[in-house]
Amino acid sequence: MLNAENLKKDVEQWLQELNYKRQPQELYTPIEYSLSLGGKRIRPVLCLAACTLFSDDYERAKPAALAIEIFHNFTLLHDDVMDHADIRRNKPTVCAKWNSNVAILSGDAMLIDAYQTISQVDSPAFSLILNTFTQTAKEVCEGQQYDMDFENTIDVTIEQYMEMIRLKTAVLIAASIKIGALIGGATDAETEILYNFGINMGLAFQLQDDLLDTYGNEATFGKAIGGDIMENKKTFLLISALENASAQQKRELLKWLDAVSPNREQKIAAVRSIYDQIGVKSLTEQKIAELHKKAMDSLREMDISIEGKRFFADFANSIFKRTR
Ligand code: IPE
Ligand code: IPE
Ligand code: MG
Ligand code: MG
Ligand code: MG
Repeated sequence: MLNAENLKKDVEQWLQELNYKRQPQELYTPIEYSLSLGGKRIRPVLCLAACTLFSDDYERAKPAALAIEIFHNFTLLHDDVMDHADIRRNKPTVCAKWNSNVAILSGDAMLIDAYQTISQVDSPAFSLILNTFTQTAKEVCEGQQYDMDFENTIDVTIEQYMEMIRLKTAVLIAASIKIGALIGGATDAETEILYNFGINMGLAFQLQDDLLDTYGNEATFGKAIGGDIMENKKTFLLISALENASAQQKRELLKWLDAVSPNREQKIAAVRSIYDQIGVKSLTEQKIAELHKKAMDSLREMDISIEGKRFFADFANSIFKRTR
């Protein structure tokens, strides 16, 4: 019986069994720290679940599931340096607890470890799996570069934003499902529908992350609220606000975007108040609902068991409603 909690327990157990008690300690301790802090583990769970759709033996997907989670955590180490973030999963980030150099090099070692781990996959589709992983890893870097570029420009469109989050976030979620399905023995046509489902779920996941970054509860979300506002991130919220603002509201927003070393509390409160006036929270929720519907349409197209459909529908619902 497919059960997300049980799959997550397996992932936690396997992560604990990885041995990072190696020298030099300064390189490996931050890796162990990052992997033991209890993320949601959605990517490895999706990978294992997708394998189960086509094979009874989901443990065949273990190296891929672990490689994907290690890769994801590597992106977080570097992302927190780039976003000047001090808190993740309610704990100091690696760059805050140690320093940026440690986050960069431990992150690099994790990327290499991810490749070493995925190379243990035993499957006739190995070459396609490795190629999917590599293409995805490159796309994540492309998305992260657009994310950084967009900090310094104000005329980012919703379309450009959607492409940026497709690259930085959605492709890894979609690839987790695709790789699991390939290990299970799915055909190209089957993996394509699953991939599309993963893309729409991944886009919604990042929109929800943007929403929580401004409107979430810090203790539950585990990250400092307002980080995106402070970094002038071109989130769905900010782009929608700029598109729908009155002349006066737009002047006020641009003033805050241009402010040099603004007071943190003041900037976050002022920008959020303009968001509230314009109603960007509900605009974002509408977009999430639209993506939810698209994901469910892909799910209906799939020729998989009722149990499998129910698992992915429930999983998607929990992501659309997530608070952390
Ligand atoms: C954080 O991903 C980065 C984004 C793509 C928003 P998660 O929200 O999956 O992070 P953890 O692993 O659960 O902490
Ligand atoms: C991160 O997007 C995407 C990647 C790490 C590739 P964010 O910068 O929004 O993620 P968080 O909010 O720091 O987790
Ligand atoms: Mg970030
Ligand atoms: Mg970022
Ligand atoms: Mg974020």
